[in-house]
Amino acid sequence: MDKFIVFGGNRLEGEVEVNGAKNAVLPLMCAALLTRGETIIDNVPNLRDVRTMCQLLESMGASTHFENRTVHIDTSALEKFEADYELVRKMRASVLVLGPLLARYNKAKVSLPGGCAIGARPIDLHLRGLEALGANIDLKGGYIEATCEQLTGASYRFDYPTVGGTENLIMAAALCKGRTILENAAREPEIVDLANFINAMGGNISGAGSDLIVIEGVEELKPTRYSVMSDRIEAGTFIAAGIITKGEVLVKNCPVDGMKAVLERFRATGAQLTIQGNDVLVKMEGPIQPIDIRTQPHPGFPTDMQAQMMALMSVADGRSAISETVFENRFMHVSELRRMGADIICEGSMAVIRGKERLEGAPVMATDLRASACLVLAGLVSRGVTEIRRIYHLDRGYERIEEKLQPLGAKIQRVAES
Ligand code: EPZ
Repeated sequence: MDKFIVFGGNRLEGEVEVNGAKNAVLPLMCAALLTRGETIIDNVPNLRDVRTMCQLLESMGASTHFENRTVHIDTSALEKFEADYELVRKMRASVLVLGPLLARYNKAKVSLPGGCAIGARPIDLHLRGLEALGANIDLKGGYIEATCEQLTGASYRFDYPTVGGTENLIMAAALCKGRTILENAAREPEIVDLANFINAMGGNISGAGSDLIVIEGVEELKPTRYSVMSDRIEAGTFIAAGIITKGEVLVKNCPVDGMKAVLERFRATGAQLTIQGNDVLVKMEGPIQPIDIRTQPHPGFPTDMQAQMMALMSVADGRSAISETVFENRFMHVSELRRMGADIICEGSMAVIRGKERLEGAPVMATDLRASACLVLAGLVSRGVTEIRRIYHLDRGYERIEEKLQPLGAKIQRVAES
């Protein structure tokens, strides 16, 4: 296992490029199951989760080739319609094979994902939606066993705008007989990317990005080549790095249109943001203003940026409040930030942060993907050395983040954990 050694205090300056979006490419790879033949996806980030998804597809008999940010997925020899516990346990997004397997093969056996560090994360809304389309769902031995004669279009209203649930239902409905109407659907940009991808395969999906999505089922979908959207969370993380170090950083290739809530909150901290097409120039001088954050489904402030903002508020000039409304346990980074001297009080889903001049470097532990990014940001502004262990969490969603930060002036090294 690797760890990071971070020497704090350097101001970041320069340019950094954002990669393709983890939370867009994973559903796209699952959607490749909707067609027979070779699907090609470009601008794919080299992440652990992408390699895990390749393993999952190969465990079903597909063949994959992932090189130079392009992944080839050939489903011609698909013969198994199962996602084993060992793989689902490593990556919850594996449950996104449910919809496409049911739509194309009328059956799927997928391990229930179990809980994760940030919450219980059930998939009841996915399953209820698939039943509305005519699937029979049984739970046996920790596995979902789903079968159907032929999925049939229906209207379904989500109790909560679940991202994965919306994605599973879009993929299931794409090959359904008839029309499916999804109400109270999730509106994340990654869902728009999925709809665009399936439409490029010959699908007929409208309304993605709104809470009302209409899917006209088609007989067949054809393999396509598609370039995945860029990662709004990686982009936000680098903008936060420019602000927290009072630097000047040009973050290139941001999906700016999907970042309105994040950019608005960054500006409220006193950061100067200049948008040039899909590039964001962030410049920070003077004190970081304390701000309040309430995470919400898109287009609200994204929960995946909550931990990074908490690092920023830990060195703001005053008191901030962060309310996490999406996941029930997404404050695992608080205790690690406290080890670095942060002054944070938590009460349920609310955290109150009293900003300090500086944090103190310390040995800390990454607990989940975005908590890891939070600790890197905190380490960049801490006095002394911060050692961040278990950064395999970070590698799930950021491609060699240290190699992107070093050219900006960050003193961060990856070393093997003895
Ligand atoms: C996706 O997870 C993302 N993952 C998450 O990013 C992101 O935090 C989340 O959406 C919210 O934006 C991927 O896209 C691979 P949800 P997902 O279903 O689909 C509850 C990261 O750091 N819920 O919208 O699992 C659930 O418990 C990861 O990149 C149900 O109760 O999120 C949670 O509290 C972390 N029943 C809330 O809804 C269900 O059937 C949001 O979950 C489904 C969800």
